[in-house]
Amino acid sequence: MNIVFVASEGVPFAKTGGLADVAGALPRAVADLGHSTSLFIPCYRKVWEANRDLAATGITLRIPIGTSTVLGHVFEGRLPDSDVPVYLIDQPDYFDRDGFYGHLGHDFEDNCERFVFFQRAVLEAVVALGIKPDVFHCNDWQTGLLPVYLKSLYHNIPELASAGCLFTIHNLAYQGLFWHWDLPLTGLDWSYFNYRALEFHGKLSFMKAGLVFSDMLTTVSPTYASEIQAQRHGAGLDGLLRDRQADLRGIVNGIDERSWTPRHETMLAANYDVDTVATGKAACKAWLQRRAGLPVRPDAPLFAQIGRLDPQKGWDLLAEVADRLLEHDVQLIVLGTGHPKYHNLLEALVHRHPGKVWAYLGFSDDLAHQIEAGADVFLMPSLFEPCGLNQLYSLAHGTVPVVHATGGLVDTVVDLTPQTLAEGRATGFVFHEPTAASVWRALERVLQTWSDRPTWEKLVKAGMSDDWSWKQSAGRYVELYHEIQRRRRPQLAQPTREKPVPA
Ligand code: GLC
Repeated sequence: MNIVFVASEGVPFAKTGGLADVAGALPRAVADLGHSTSLFIPCYRKVWEANRDLAATGITLRIPIGTSTVLGHVFEGRLPDSDVPVYLIDQPDYFDRDGFYGHLGHDFEDNCERFVFFQRAVLEAVVALGIKPDVFHCNDWQTGLLPVYLKSLYHNIPELASAGCLFTIHNLAYQGLFWHWDLPLTGLDWSYFNYRALEFHGKLSFMKAGLVFSDMLTTVSPTYASEIQAQRHGAGLDGLLRDRQADLRGIVNGIDERSWTPRHETMLAANYDVDTVATGKAACKAWLQRRAGLPVRPDAPLFAQIGRLDPQKGWDLLAEVADRLLEHDVQLIVLGTGHPKYHNLLEALVHRHPGKVWAYLGFSDDLAHQIEAGADVFLMPSLFEPCGLNQLYSLAHGTVPVVHATGGLVDTVVDLTPQTLAEGRATGFVFHEPTAASVWRALERVLQTWSDRPTWEKLVKAGMSDDWSWKQSAGRYVELYHEIQRRRRPQLAQPTREKPVPA
């Protein structure tokens, strides 16, 4: 099959969050299963800063935007260690900016126009490149109109005629909502602006467009797939998602083993695996404590958090328990940027607990790896979490996760109980209520277990032995691509026959 992935970011070209990790890894994992894949993303300023050797394809795109025509170009790169092409849609007025979606906490005012351009440009580029997709795999609101275009403005294009569409929700809370007067920019007529299609409370919704017009839907964990069908996490779209229940699946993200296992990472003080974790992690921890300017103390548990400093990530809960935790003999390292309120909180914690807290308020990919390897405990009290990748990275590094029982967190971390421990399945600590009291009870269990070394080592080793590689999840996506094809072309419903072996 030929699968075209479309996303607004993808490593190693452009990343603000977990979506980029998935978009950079899944096309490779699907290619490893024997399919042709490619990835399309916008060519932001950051892409040029990090990759100077992109090749021009010579393709010039002329995209209708409202009543004007906007020109664009297509550059080509490759996903590392693979033959998977990455096509970058270049339009400097839209994409040569600081920030992908906004700047200094404000969304760009022309985001509707920018991503209308991107999606139409992808369709035009696919045709110009001679790619004949069986399935477009779209991701999040920035790609939600593409399935609409396939069924409307582009449905007569022969190269696209057999293409189906899978839409993956990475986070339903970001919906791409725009003023209704942006509709003419899309080229679609007003008949699409109704509550069964693109209209959402008087606005134009790209997310809803993707949910209504795609052949099948996925999200990034089974629990989140059921959570978004209820009001609490449904962000106003739960009714629609219940209607589409039969077409909605939850598939947990994998981790890219080449870049996220301590056996291979080049930036670590020591490489290690499940057999050498004791000495390997000790070396990484000492290195990290030195880097952070904290006392080198093997015996003090080192807690860590990496990610956006955002209410979604449970920072208000952490704010309530942090002082209490830091009264114990522990250390805390935080890497991230976000809401100024949490920057202030962290600066205050550093001040109140000298020699115990290090906050790096910025982003550094190397440091993210070094923290995963050097820390003992990873805090992930997210209020909701579609999948979450840091808890998977933590498991792979023998760093014990403490998570809220929500979304992908509860699907991937097994709480320590006498039974799960006896069965060798316990990998972390799970708390059930998004309250400070519930987090604190989990942290007390962490502190007790830390002093019970044999139990701690069992947790570490069980986590490291879990297989969160992409292989299984990629296989599940391939099944869905086949299902989409079968639904679209019933005559192809027969299973593909193996080639006869020559006698
Ligand atoms: C979003 C979600 C996160 C998920 C990631 C990749 O960032 O918030 O939970 O892991 O997408 O799917």
